[in-house]
This record gives sequence, C-alpha cells and structure tokens, in this order.
Amino acid sequence: MKYHIITFGCQMNISDAERVSAILESMKYKKTPNVNEADLIVITMCSVRQSAVDRVHGLVQKIKKLKAKSPNLKTILTGCILKKDKKIFTMPTGRQVKDFDYVIDIRDIKKLPKILAWSNSHDRRELTTLKSPNDYLNITPKYSSKFYANVPIMTGCNNFCAYCVVPYTREREISRPAEKIISEIKSLIKNGYKEIWLLGQNVNSYKDPSTSFGAAQDKGSGQAINFPTLLKMVNDIQGNFWIRFTSSHPKDFNDEVINALAIGGKITPYLNLPVQAGDDKVLKDMNRHYTSKDYKNKIKKLRKKIPGIAISTDIIVGFPGETKKQFKNTVELFREVKFDMAYINKYSARDGTAASKLKDNISIFEKKRREKVLTEILKQTALEKNKKLVGKKAIVLINENRGKNYFGKNEHYKTIKIKSDKNILGKLVKVKITEAQPFILSGSILPARSEAEDKT
Ligand code: SAH
Ligand code: SF4
Ligand code: F3S
Repeated sequence: MKYHIITFGCQMNISDAERVSAILESMKYKKTPNVNEADLIVITMCSVRQSAVDRVHGLVQKIKKLKAKSPNLKTILTGCILKKDKKIFTMPTGRQVKDFDYVIDIRDIKKLPKILAWSNSHDRRELTTLKSPNDYLNITPKYSSKFYANVPIMTGCNNFCAYCVVPYTREREISRPAEKIISEIKSLIKNGYKEIWLLGQNVNSYKDPSTSFGAAQDKGSGQAINFPTLLKMVNDIQGNFWIRFTSSHPKDFNDEVINALAIGGKITPYLNLPVQAGDDKVLKDMNRHYTSKDYKNKIKKLRKKIPGIAISTDIIVGFPGETKKQFKNTVELFREVKFDMAYINKYSARDGTAASKLKDNISIFEKKRREKVLTEILKQTALEKNKKLVGKKAIVLINENRGKNYFGKNEHYKTIKIKSDKNILGKLVKVKITEAQPFILSGSILPARSEAEDKT
C-alpha cells in the first residue's frame, strides 16, 4: 500500500506530518511522491489564513477525480483545522462523507491503524472519544531530512492574539517532558544531524510537565525546567550541531532568555521575534501585551548582549481599523529596528477569533500597498546588513541543490548560494562571502588548507 502526504503550514505541521508518516510506515505503507499511484492520501492542513484553507478546497476537486478512477482510494484530513471547516469537509451527503474519508485531530493520530480499519460512518463518530493529547508528540517521527530535524518541545497556545486561529486549532499549551526532548536530540546527533529546531507556538512558555506540575523536582535544584534551562541542557549535549528555535512571543522574551542565548555555543545567533505591528493601539487590539517601545528595548538589550545577532519578524498589515497613521508607526519601527528578514502577512479574518467580530475594513489594495512599503524598507535594511558580510568567512549547512548550485544557511540563518562540483548536500562547509543581495548571499568554498589553518 502506498501513501501520498501533502503538508501545508509551518514547521510544526511539517513535524506533525513526520509523525503521521512514521505511523503509516509502521503499518507497512510506503511513501510515494506520485499522487496518482497512492492508496491513501493524507493532507495536513493549515488554517492560519483563508488562502491556506482555499488550497485544500482546490485539492478536494483533484481528489474527487482520483476517487472516481480508483474507488478504493482513502483520504485523510488532519493538521490545523477550524471547527467550521471540519464540518464543511465532513458533512455527510447521504451515506457518504463529503470530501474526506476521515478527518482526524492530530492528537488522535496514534489511533490511525484502528481508524483505517473502520469501515462506516457510525464508527467515525467515535473519534471524539479517542483523544490522547499528551503523548502524540512522543511518536518517533519519520524525519524528512537527514541533517536537520524539527523537535517539538510544546504545542498549542494560550495567548489568544485577536487575529489568530492557532489556540482554536491546536487548543491549549502542552509541554513535552524535557527528558523525552533530550533523548530525541541525543539520538539525532548520534545519527549525524547538524541542525536541531526546537519548536513551539510560544517556546518561551515551555515548562517541563514533570517538574512544573509538582511531581519530581529538577535534578536537585528545586526549579522547574523552563525554556532557558532547556536551551542550556540542549547546548550541553555533546556533538557538532546547531540549535535554532521558533516561535518566541515578545511579551515572554525576557532577560533570562536573552542570557541563555548569549551563552552562544551551539545556540545560533538568529532570532525570530514577531512584532506584528508597530502601533500601540493596534498591538492592544491584537491582544499582544507589549508596546512598540517594549519591543524595541528588548531588541536593544539583545543586540548589546549578542552583537551581530540576526533578527527576523512577522507582521500583519491591514488589521481591522489600522489607520494610515497607525501603519506609519510600523514603518517607523521597521526603519529603526532594521530587520534581517520579515514575514509580512496581509490580515485575513479567521472564524471564531476576536478580530473576526471587527469589520475587515482595509481594502486588499491598501493591504498590498502596505505590504510593499514594508518590503521596500526590508530590502534596504537586509541588503545593508548583508553587504557588511562580503569578504567575511562563514560556516554553511548545505540543505538544497539545483545541479551544481548548492544552497544553505549560515549560523545567522542567511541563505548562501555556493557552486560546487562535489556533492556537498548535508555538509557543513566553510565559505568566503563574495556577493550580497537583500535575501541571498553568494559564497565560494574555502580550500581545505585554509580550513586546517583556521582550526589551529
Ligand atoms: N506562534 C507564532 C505564530 C504562528 S502564525 C507566533 O506567535 O509568532 C504565523 C504568522 O502568521 C503570525 O506571526 C502572523 O504574522 C501570521 N498570521 C496569523 N494569523 C493571521 C491572520 N489572521 N491574518 C494574517 N496573518 C496572520
Ligand atoms: Fe497565534 Fe498569538 Fe499564539 Fe502565536 S502567540 S500562535 S500569534 S495566538
Ligand atoms: Fe498553520 Fe497550524 Fe502552523 S494553523 S501556521 S499549521 S500552527
């Protein structure tokens, strides 16, 4: 039996999809990149913007055609799904489930073998009684890469930012026991992995459940293991690898986290700190619990402690009621902070969120204009920063190639393009930066001799 998996969304969803794959492969399903030869199609969907949901609706049409050709084809929808969409995708039409055979909560994924054995819609209703929220993260995933790995440390979110679906699709925060995280990472390092991503919707609120809920105490110190402690524990694991993490909420990004990052070591000098807006009224309406000044002060402290750290952010333009004047405050913040990278999103109303009750009054035309204004500033600040790297050396983890052109990331999470006759995929190589563009650098591999010299 063959399965084909289609994944949308963030790294957390990719990581969930790796767990789905692990379960299917334990049932002797084999992965196929060709949807036409699949016996089972799994979609792990994202609901963060309506455009992501629309892509699943688009796929449904394609799947219907495939089902008409092969009636035994089974389909599963999982990932981040809004209640409203769950209904749309599963509404029974006669005895048939509408678009998918099974719509499964990701936390029920361990039950997949049982679910696949079910044959009628009566059984399907039992799904709700099968929740096992605490342990799906401990399924050993089928990692999609051989050199970088996503390791969830927590899932869910308690923050309820006014625009965001995540607290509804992933529900409340659950942290994974530190012991399990450390043992997963140790085994990855043993197997040659070079880059470990610690994942969570808000990694800063990580709390080891075995210590924070009163059972055991942290190795004699009496302290619960929080995110900074976990970072230090991962940093202490022996081996040659990089540590990255995402996402951080500015309200919880405190001195203790900054001090942990400043240890350096394997912790890479890159931080994604989503600001979302630069205007205090908009931030308040977004329920973000910090001001633009708080954000800028945190960045200042961080840069003082870790000079040269690369910083990226997430922005939403056109939040309901965001005036041109308020948007100008975001523009100012952008000019002042000078980000290395920014993920700029046009506001999309999401069912059930607090902001969905407000009028989505900024036209798509105006949202696009605001997006463009910020992109132009970003291009300038990113280029300014990248130009300073020309002539400097960097270590790059190569993660992609197109022919002889190889692409990778340096410690600062900048993309670097390198030409090579040898296959260097998955290798850490030393390069000299030769050219800078806003979102990409070019480099040439330094000869082995100079590597040896550098080591001495
Ligand atoms: N946990 C992460 C966010 C996950 S969603 C965090 O707190 O940063 C990723 C990004 O999508 C967010 O940072 C935000 O910029 C964007 N986003 C979330 N909801 C959105 C919406 N309704 N419309 C447009 N962009 C949105
Ligand atoms: Fe969404 Fe806010 Fe939670 Fe991030 S912190 S996942 S933006 S609710
Ligand atoms: Fe999307 Fe869920 Fe990630 S809604 S952004 S896949 S947490």
